[in-house]
Amino acid sequence: MSESMLCTVEDIRGFLRRTLSERRFFHCEGVASSMRALFEQFGYPETSLLSYHGMDVSDVVGLMHDAAREYSDSELLRFASAHSLALAPEMVAVPVLSHGVVAHGLALELIGSDIPLPWLDAMDWHTTGNVKMGYIGMALFIADFIEPGRTFLDDAKRREYLGHDDMNQTASAILDDMIAHWKSKGIVPSESSSVLQKFFHDGGRIIL
Ligand SMILES: [Fe+2]
Ligand SMILES: [Fe+2]
Repeated sequence: MSESMLCTVEDIRGFLRRTLSERRFFHCEGVASSMRALFEQFGYPETSLLSYHGMDVSDVVGLMHDAAREYSDSELLRFASAHSLALAPEMVAVPVLSHGVVAHGLALELIGSDIPLPWLDAMDWHTTGNVKMGYIGMALFIADFIEPGRTFLDDAKRREYLGHDDMNQTASAILDDMIAHWKSKGIVPSESSSVLQKFFHDGGRIIL
């Protein structure tokens, strides 16, 4: 890895412009702006988690979450092994699910080794969702699904998802629709997604 440290949000954007397709880069921009809007609507994380060396949580987490989404399965597994990143069994079985953990590894290497842990947890679990993803992770999970570039959603559906008082209800509605969609395609949901769905249905809440 020969990239120099990414010390500003513009550095992160420059890195992603060089390493991702244009389509993916704009998706990451959309996720960052959607996370910001979710925090404005539902409430911000605690002050200590809002920024890192002057960089905003929505920018760093939103932009970086798919930094490794265009890696091949073997590149993901090699990076995780080389950087001693622990992968859940479901990620080893389906390596594309590990791209959030590898993005976390890239963030540690390129941005800083003391990035707030909840930011890393958020990146780890953004694809499947997980009861351990935390409040920032819940915002990332939602933003990844509803950002403006997601053309499978129309504005009415976005408003429906966002028309709740609690961000947990939005995440639960999205997860229900994701799981129903996967099942209609014959795809078995990951364990993390299934456990999270049951957690929400049983009244569980991920809090600030
Ligand atoms: Fe992703
Ligand atoms: Fe994404």
